[in-house]
Amino acid sequence: MPNDRILVVDDEETIREIVCSMLGAAHFKTRQAANGIEALAILESGDEFDLVLSDLMMAEMDGIALLERAKERYPDMPIVMVTTVHDISVALQAIHNGAYDYLPKPFEREQLLNTVRRALENRRLKRENDAYRTNLESLVAARTQQWKTALSKLEESYDITLEALGDALDAKDAETAGHTRRVTAFTIAIARRMGLPKEEIRIIARGAFLHDIGKMAIPDAILLKPDKLTSEEMAIMREHCYRGYKILSRIPFLAEAAEIVYSHQEYYDGTGYPRRLKGEEIPLGARIFAIADTLDAMRSDRPYRKAQSIEAVRKEIELWSGRQFDPEIAKVFLEMPNNLWEDLRNDIDGSNSSIPKV
Ligand SMILES: [Fe+2]
Repeated sequence: MPNDRILVVDDEETIREIVCSMLGAAHFKTRQAANGIEALAILESGDEFDLVLSDLMMAEMDGIALLERAKERYPDMPIVMVTTVHDISVALQAIHNGAYDYLPKPFEREQLLNTVRRALENRRLKRENDAYRTNLESLVAARTQQWKTALSKLEESYDITLEALGDALDAKDAETAGHTRRVTAFTIAIARRMGLPKEEIRIIARGAFLHDIGKMAIPDAILLKPDKLTSEEMAIMREHCYRGYKILSRIPFLAEAAEIVYSHQEYYDGTGYPRRLKGEEIPLGARIFAIADTLDAMRSDRPYRKAQSIEAVRKEIELWSGRQFDPEIAKVFLEMPNNLWEDLRNDIDGSNSSIPKV
């Protein structure tokens, strides 16, 4: 492209003059340097060039040394070495070291211009490519940000959906209201203590929050019956695990939580219901939930008994470790400080936000 600036380096003034006049006639702007040291000084003075055309053999700092330094400081600026025919192997070495091309002396005007134009075109393409890549990177970053925002909005609306489901059950069975939130908070606390990844805890929390959602499908006459249930009624009541699973498993973002809902009444030793799952057949979330659920049930007043102390809960969990409860998780629970549960209970009971945050 005319007006591109070229630094011509050669220790023979006549050659510099000839080269510069050839380039000037083709509308290139030129400046001359008599050796590598002079060339570097010009480059460092802040004068900008689009190309350096340098002789290979010079007394003070030859072309190879100039190439090395110039490449270090101006890696994008193409350098073309000018060389006598017997220097070809050195010229090839120069290309290996980062020179764009070499021009064997003596050369014709057309040869010079072709080489210079090719080098400049190559640099232009490289720059375009860099700009395109930078642009692409910022485009990808912007899209990723948009996607993250959309995802977090989506998660928010998921949680609102869950709250609506939870509220629907609370409207039917007032006793579950605080219990659902507390048991979710306790489940999250234990899962965190176990060092589970946040994404897994989020799934487990949804399972805990929705554990009794299947009770929506249980007739009020059974669900709200103040007296002891008959064995037939009990069998219907026990269907709430499967009913809950059926409600949730069709919803893609709740499919994994649905497994926890299905299994939340299983016992570690295989004596629970509805499938009599054993040990690790029971989803991890359901095994954590079992402890959280017992903790909250025992710490809450019931029509037929008062809330029990945290020491009583600890004894119960210890006693049933390996039977109702996963012994590893029971161990984690027993290592956690007692006051944590009271703090969580006060937090939940004192706020009206629906789902405890993971
Ligand atoms: Fe349940």
